[in-house]
Amino acid sequence: HKKVEKICCLGAGYVGGPTCAVIAARNPHVQVTIVDLNALRIAAWNSDDLPIYEPGLDEVVKSCRGRNLFFSTDVDKAIIEADLIFVSVNTPTKTQGMGAGFAADLGYVESATRHIAKVAQGDKIVVEKSTVPCRTAQSMRFILEANARPGIHFDILSNPEFLAEGTAIADLMNPDRVLIGSLNTEAGRSAAASLVDIYAGWIKREQIITTNLWSSELTKLAANAMLAQRISSINALSAICEATGADVDEVSYACGLDTRIGPKFLKASVGFGGSCFQKDILNLVYLSESLHLPEVAAYWKQVVEMNEYQKKRFVNRIISCLFNTLTGKKIAILGFAFKKDTGDTRESPAITLCKYLRAERANVAIYDPKVAESQIWMDLTEPGITDDLAKLQKQISIADSAYAACKGADAVVVCTEWDEFRNTRLDYRKVYEMMNKPAFIFDGRLILDQKELESIGFHVEMIGRPRGNFETSMQWE
Ligand code: NAI
Repeated sequence: HKKVEKICCLGAGYVGGPTCAVIAARNPHVQVTIVDLNALRIAAWNSDDLPIYEPGLDEVVKSCRGRNLFFSTDVDKAIIEADLIFVSVNTPTKTQGMGAGFAADLGYVESATRHIAKVAQGDKIVVEKSTVPCRTAQSMRFILEANARPGIHFDILSNPEFLAEGTAIADLMNPDRVLIGSLNTEAGRSAAASLVDIYAGWIKREQIITTNLWSSELTKLAANAMLAQRISSINALSAICEATGADVDEVSYACGLDTRIGPKFLKASVGFGGSCFQKDILNLVYLSESLHLPEVAAYWKQVVEMNEYQKKRFVNRIISCLFNTLTGKKIAILGFAFKKDTGDTRESPAITLCKYLRAERANVAIYDPKVAESQIWMDLTEPGITDDLAKLQKQISIADSAYAACKGADAVVVCTEWDEFRNTRLDYRKVYEMMNKPAFIFDGRLILDQKELESIGFHVEMIGRPRGNFETSMQWE
């Protein structure tokens, strides 16, 4: 099989950037060029201030940028030179037309594919890195073959990415597995072997799995659906805990000790976020419906509905604890990213929460250690309604520290599990002093020490634990 010497990656986003940076770092003899249509993003990748925050990413990029790792807007040149091309462009949920709200918008994948066909001057291995619906590789092949210069041969591989934001570099350096799907033809197997060699630069061969194309495409949707399902399952149980006096952390710990269940990814919370879980499940729902499997579609759809319910339930709890009105009250939102150690806010539960709180006429002060202010404003304004911003800013403010957000607040709401919000890191006595009384804390991530906060004087409400005073009403003696 062919030895890959030059790689091009279309899309310098959360996946393309870190993935190809690690490939370059671990394959010093391979030249890797990451390109994007977004010139600002490329400029940021070439600067000291990378466009995304991931622990360890700076070091990896610095170790090989300018050596065998390049960021560029010259898409054509990178395609022409490369033996292997990763397509790592965005695949958002369609917002209009057939399948709106469910199906993946494959416009970016298609236009990237057409572009490859147009400029390629020799044979290429084209790798789907983006998460795509099952059988997308077939469409890509069709487009490539119909548009390419005569005599050029394309092989298509599926190589979904399993990294999690916040731990991207660790996940890439030490993945549970790498999955490569190919056609079961000689050419397909040989292309897969070329990509296996790249990963074998740092990953054990037995962890590099090769399957057929459709299994590989479906596995990515399946893995995300199952991960999100675990969260919706524990969140569904958290509602029962709150109503009965069971403690969801205890339930999850005891369930997780069963080796068939396992302890990971069983943390109850205000809900999952991120660009992928919801999008990929909806994609699976759409796929099931198109295949005339309505029961299967309804089953997976419920995972997303439970997540919406969890956010709504949390806001309802805030409203009811604060004496059924939030009008004019100040609510401090700690954390805006969808999880800790990332600046990514896509589908963050904090966005939904802020929208609900706004509708209740609360004043909201937001603090997040990594999310840019401009990003928060963008997330809270509907696209296209610019004059809304002035109105929004009367109700919502962005603070530059947790203390500033909490000053004069009636309630503190932990939305992201950043370590700096833990009891050991934030001085909650100081927070308590500066708040209105009674001072409420709502922990949407189960990171706080309830007893300690109560000893300070806070009224504490935790997801998956009974409402305040419930415990005493439960005492039988
Ligand atoms: P992103 O939006 O951060 O990056 C995509 C980039 O592709 C953008 O910068 C865009 O300008 C660029 N792009 C679009 N069309 C292009 C073209 N024709 N040529 C060159 N560049 C082009 O998206 P992200 O988060 O990196 O996701 C990419 C794919 O990976 C999606 O399909 C997503 O579902 C999947 N994925 C994402 C994960 C995540 O944690 N974010 C994890 C695993 C998979």
